Amino acid sequence: MKFLSSAFMLITANLSFNAGSAIAAEEPLDTREVLLLTEEQREHVLDEMNGFLSSVQGIIEGIAENDLEIVAEAAAESSPKKPGEMAGIMKGVRPLQFKSMGAETRKGFLQITEQAQSGARTEEIASTLHETMNYCNACHATYQIQLKD
Ligand code: HEC
Repeated sequence: MKFLSSAFMLITANLSFNAGSAIAAEEPLDTREVLLLTEEQREHVLDEMNGFLSSVQGIIEGIAENDLEIVAEAAAESSPKKPGEMAGIMKGVRPLQFKSMGAETRKGFLQITEQAQSGARTEEIASTLHETMNYCNACHATYQIQLKD
């Protein structure tokens, strides 16, 4: 009897545990603002992101090797695009704040390009990179992508 009642307690404990996790599933862990995109739009954003990451890596490589040409080339890859190069598929889907953080990031890369081209000290360039990367963190903390079905 003692055995049976402890088995029963185990089962009820297990049931309430499951009920608990069902409730947890209704409250997502990721509470960032959702950017609802098509698969194509999501690919576009992630491509841009990986371009940003490559630029950061190239800039750091150039700083480490004290080679401003490497810095300028890497930063230019993520500098603001000309109107003709902008992807039409993103038209109207990005909130204003998202757009402006993206634009500020590209402006930061442009500033680094110009600093490298004009022979700025690597400490100054590192400082601009550090400031620019505040936008990476701020935007990542604010938005997540979810696919439209
Ligand atoms: C305007 C907003 C914004 C800015 C600015 C931004 N990101 Fe992102 N980034 C995102 C979003 C949104 C995702 C996708 C997150 C998700 O899937 O939930 C992302 C994802 C990424 C990824 C993952 C890519 C993949 O293929 O999965 C990398 C790497 C990345 N960002 C790098 C950067 C770097 C480096 C910077 C700054 C130089 C930066 N991002 C700036 C919004 C931004």
